[in-house]
Amino acid sequence: MFDKVKRHTPKRLLFYIIYYFFAIKLSYGDRWGVFGRLSHEFRTFVCRRIFKKTGKIFGVGKNADFGFGGHLITMGECANIGNHAWIRGNGELILGDHIMMGEYVMIYTQDHKISGKGYDGSVVRPVKIGNHVWIGGRVTILKGVTIGDNAVVGAGSVVTKDVPKDAIVAGNPAKVIRMREYSV
Ligand SMILES: CC(C)(COP(=O)(O)OP(=O)(O)OC[C@H]1O[C@@H](n2cnc3c(N)ncnc32)[C@H](O)[C@@H]1OP(=O)(O)O)[C@@H](O)C(=O)NCCC(=O)NCCS
Repeated sequence: MFDKVKRHTPKRLLFYIIYYFFAIKLSYGDRWGVFGRLSHEFRTFVCRRIFKKTGKIFGVGKNADFGFGGHLITMGECANIGNHAWIRGNGELILGDHIMMGEYVMIYTQDHKISGKGYDGSVVRPVKIGNHVWIGGRVTILKGVTIGDNAVVGAGSVVTKDVPKDAIVAGNPAKVIRMREYSV
């Protein structure tokens, strides 16, 4: 279903070093005027060389940490990973176009297996986020979840199941609080 991308190439490793030793710490893009803008541009420049696929324009916030799983991340056009995001697991993360993400979002594409007494092995499932989705601050998204186009995920939600298109979900576990109605 997904094209496999080589995990570590010399080029990708070089850009991981630049990212984790320098680019990750640069200022928030929306502060410090031209310096903030340059920080944002530089982080994007580095991530473009780490991620599997990206749109022409996208954003990665300060302190966003995706381990060494950048080869599993696809960023749509104008998709954003929020400040302090934490992305972990061996599954793919596919972000559609025009995605807004608040701070401290956690996305896990993998669980430890819990069918035995120990935790040997893992369950890996991709996470897919549709177009025009707004993910609030401190949201946690678990393995295998698909979030439909235009959905809104309320702050602090834990998303354990798929979110329908146009839905506003909130809570732990996240449930539909209502569907979006468009006035314009
Ligand atoms: C989801 C959200 C957009 C809904 O806003 P809204 O339409 O004004 O919602 P309301 O305040 O009318 O709330 C409707 C119901 O959902 C509940 N609710 C709203 N947001 C919730 C949340 N994040 N978690 C749990 N319940 C929530 C309300 O308590 C209310 O419940 P009630 O009907 O039992 O009283 C908003 O609450 C939210 O979470 N925004 C995210 C903000 C954010 O993270 N910004 C980061 C910067 S990008």
